[in-house]
Amino acid sequence: MRRTAILMKNNVILTGFMGTGKTSLGKLLATRLGRPFIDIDKKIEDENRMSIPKIFEQYGEEHFRALEKAAVKELSERRGLIIATGGGTIKDEENLNLLKNSGVMICLTTEPEEIFNRTARRGERPVLDGGGNERLETIKKLLAERKKFYDRADYQVDTTNWSPIQIIDDICRYLRQFR
Ligand code: S3P
Repeated sequence: MRRTAILMKNNVILTGFMGTGKTSLGKLLATRLGRPFIDIDKKIEDENRMSIPKIFEQYGEEHFRALEKAAVKELSERRGLIIATGGGTIKDEENLNLLKNSGVMICLTTEPEEIFNRTARRGERPVLDGGGNERLETIKKLLAERKKFYDRADYQVDTTNWSPIQIIDDICRYLRQFR
């Protein structure tokens, strides 16, 4: 496979709401670019030997956000990484600025109904649980609240109707200008 020498000094940060494909597309992009991939949620889970839902359940969201902030601080001092954020990572202004300043930020988007389908299993996304039948409404409300943060990404890709390969090709096309 051809490895494109894009942005050797900078990070590429994939952000966006839950269910937009940050982790799976991040892995593909990292393979395509021959770069290390780090998923912030996975880093937190590995370092704390606990799943994200368990961290929420045992210690609460505030504690999770503190762990997330520490991970962002550490990763934003490194370069050359492909980083997938959690869906809520960049609603913290400091996290958003640190990540943006460390590289190029790409926001993945899709329709609320698609997010609803992709995040259907309860227990995996604590911020969506407890909503019962209003889960779709919760998704729409959070999307509206977070729009102003996601909009500050350098580039947005609507993943709704594209295959993973098409999305990666599009991101690579965008990144070429930074070579
Ligand atoms: C969250 C999204 C999750 C995870 C945590 C909180 C959010 O990440 O960080 O459950 O606030 O949107 P994913 O977007 O990878 O599911």
